[in-house]
Amino acid sequence: MGSAWHAMSEHDTSEITVDVHLDPADWSRHLAEETALGLVDRPPWTPPVWFYDEVGSRLFDRITRLDEYYPTRAERSILAAHADAIAARTGATTLIELGSGTSDKTTLLLDALRDHGTLERIVPFDVSEAVLRSAAATLAETYPDVDVHAVVGDFHEHLGHIPSHGRRLLAFLGSTIGNLDPDQRREFLRRVRHSLDGDGWFLLGTDLVKDRTRLVRAYDDDSGVTAAFNLNALHVMNRELGADFDVDAWRHRAVFDEEHQRIEMHVVAVTDQTVSFATLDRTLTVEAGGHLRTEISAKFTEPQVRAELAGAGFAVDASWTDDNGDFLLTLARPA
Ligand code: SAH
Ligand code: AVI
Repeated sequence: MGSAWHAMSEHDTSEITVDVHLDPADWSRHLAEETALGLVDRPPWTPPVWFYDEVGSRLFDRITRLDEYYPTRAERSILAAHADAIAARTGATTLIELGSGTSDKTTLLLDALRDHGTLERIVPFDVSEAVLRSAAATLAETYPDVDVHAVVGDFHEHLGHIPSHGRRLLAFLGSTIGNLDPDQRREFLRRVRHSLDGDGWFLLGTDLVKDRTRLVRAYDDDSGVTAAFNLNALHVMNRELGADFDVDAWRHRAVFDEEHQRIEMHVVAVTDQTVSFATLDRTLTVEAGGHLRTEISAKFTEPQVRAELAGAGFAVDASWTDDNGDFLLTLARPA
């Protein structure tokens, strides 16, 4: 992919604009290429974007409410405590949210900016069009005096299409940055810095390194919701890539990789498996007990976040953790 192709730009109502920057053919080609690269790696991996079809997005929403999955609650509690300070420090008129999903926690920031009297525009940005449209409608209802300008795009490719007016606060919450590998993070942060053009603010949520048992449980809950989320990616690849995963022959697994300080989600083959990917002209062979890595979720320390931000040209203005010290929210601006 890589081209900034405008499939359409449509005005749904007077309040909501939805810009679509994903050309279905380009996007499919891009995902096919990335997946093909991962399948020939050892161990093989697939990109996390296969999780977020409509079913997967709903499962993710359930994950955020699980007892074991502390990151969402922890980040919400930080926002509840400090959204006012963020609104006062930034005076933002435009809140942009990358990988916004349902924009649920975001309302804490939006309420604070509205109460502060500055909020004019909300820009939810996500690759999943159905979830984005539904979130945009809810936002327009909740904030009737605010302009909702949703962007369907890939945050690796389309940051240049974010509306540039006003005092901007760009939020990347939920530790979604942990789903990128170090090279992708470096490049992503550099692009965010570039898109802010020396102006504006960046608010970054990161999950912190902690007790290994709690970390693994957050990705392997007792009710099996995360297992369903993980295995759903195989259904999505069957549909989108003409693959023939026998989904019942794979099991969910979450492990903490000490070397890279990250959770890895795997699907483990119960018996020897050969999977063909019709549209990729590729075959994946995994012996019984072998695995395919479907996600990485890096865990951070505060100095590491500071260093990665500094490496991309950001200076930290303030940072906060929740009472348990589980999660970190960092407010930064171009240095
Ligand atoms: N920010 C929310 C949702 C996190 S789930 C929260 O904190 O709870 C991750 C979100 O990122 C999903 O909505 C998914 O569709 C989106 N996403 C994943 N890869 C993306 C990409 N390359 N570009 C844009 N959005 C992406
Ligand atoms: C979206 N992302 C930050 C989640 C995470 O924790 O890495 C995705 C997820 N995977 C399993 N559970 C949640």
